Amino acid sequence: MNEWYREIDPPQRLLMGPGPVNAHPRVLRAMSADLLGQFDPEMTAYMNETMALYRPIFGTTNRWTFVVDGSARAAIEAALVSLAAPGDRVLVLNFGRFGLLLVEILERLGAVVETVDAPWGEVVPTATVAAAIERFRPALVATVHGDTSTTMAQPLGDLGRLCREAGALSYVDATATLGGSAVLADQWSLDVVTAGLQKCLGGPSGAGPITVSERAAERIFSRRHTERGLGADASSPGRGPRIGSNYFDLAMIMDYWSEKRLNHHTQATTMLYGARECARVALGEGLTERYQRHAAAGRAVTAGLRAMGLTVFGDDAHRMSNVTGVYIPAQIDGEAVRRRMREDFEIEIGTAFGPLAGRIWRIGAMGYNAMKHKVLITLGALEAVLRAEGFFCEPGAGVDAALQAWEGPTQPA
Ligand SMILES: Cc1ncc(COP(=O)(O)O)c(C=O)c1O
Repeated sequence: MNEWYREIDPPQRLLMGPGPVNAHPRVLRAMSADLLGQFDPEMTAYMNETMALYRPIFGTTNRWTFVVDGSARAAIEAALVSLAAPGDRVLVLNFGRFGLLLVEILERLGAVVETVDAPWGEVVPTATVAAAIERFRPALVATVHGDTSTTMAQPLGDLGRLCREAGALSYVDATATLGGSAVLADQWSLDVVTAGLQKCLGGPSGAGPITVSERAAERIFSRRHTERGLGADASSPGRGPRIGSNYFDLAMIMDYWSEKRLNHHTQATTMLYGARECARVALGEGLTERYQRHAAAGRAVTAGLRAMGLTVFGDDAHRMSNVTGVYIPAQIDGEAVRRRMREDFEIEIGTAFGPLAGRIWRIGAMGYNAMKHKVLITLGALEAVLRAEGFFCEPGAGVDAALQAWEGPTQPA
């Protein structure tokens, strides 16, 4: 039979890179359920349940907590295009590739962007952010929480308060942290936070959970200009400039997720099932327990790599628990190691971008893969591959150290 007609039968890879990771089996099962029409009462009930399920995960009581169809970037773009109008001043905290993505999206939509920058491997000090807000007087401040490109997590405890004091809205891309470490939208006074499923939430990419505060919703609805074909009085038009995208127009998407059920795009039913199940799995485990599991996995990966004689990348004080960068040793071909990991062990570890390309690997342990055995198997495989490639590391040292570190809260120096 022609190869093109063969059934999909992917190899059983263990995805230990910066995401995507293997989806939880319950999520995959939920996604194989039959389809419903988008206004079917069963479907709209699932939508309401999904809103309720994501509120505790975002640490919020925001009414506007829902899912944007598309990968995490879709939710990011929807947030930014709906919050920032052309000419609006936006301050971006830039400490890696995904901060630069925020800049890129904002520039495309005509915002006036200023950045506060930190070198890759560090975060932006809060005092620097405060001074920049004071000087630039932005309408919006945007940042990434955990930037997988550098493995750093920006502290967010003061960001929302600083923004509110200055009359600015705040936006956070929590794609790589939501469901794996605390994201406390209300406590941190954040206005809009978005995420994706394919990291700590343990699902496939294709849905972007989002939460929107009342003040951000007010701003978004002030720009509401509902599609003509839905009828002039389908919704009261706002006085603000029309949102510069139809697909990512949060005012229209929120009208669809509200009791108005005003038609927008056709909800991606299967992704909704997946997003809903991701949240059920996370809440069923317990968020505190889940964060502890991710922290244990991060400790174990870091300790194991160090015990193998490798150097972990970046500032220890701000390291994400779920993705760890590690320098590729001198004389070792990083891509050859990744290839052997894949071909001999069916394990994927990540490469890197920009200034870190060819210098570090990124090892992820998150969602369904933040498990002791998966971390140990990955470290054992890496050790074997490194030795085969000519790097000396003491046999078993990495796995032993990881095992110990999984249990204890302290990290070896
Ligand atoms: C922090 C962060 N933001 C955004 C994205 C983009 O996500 P997606 O590829 O799902 O659009 C990623 C993906 O790696 C990410 O790590």
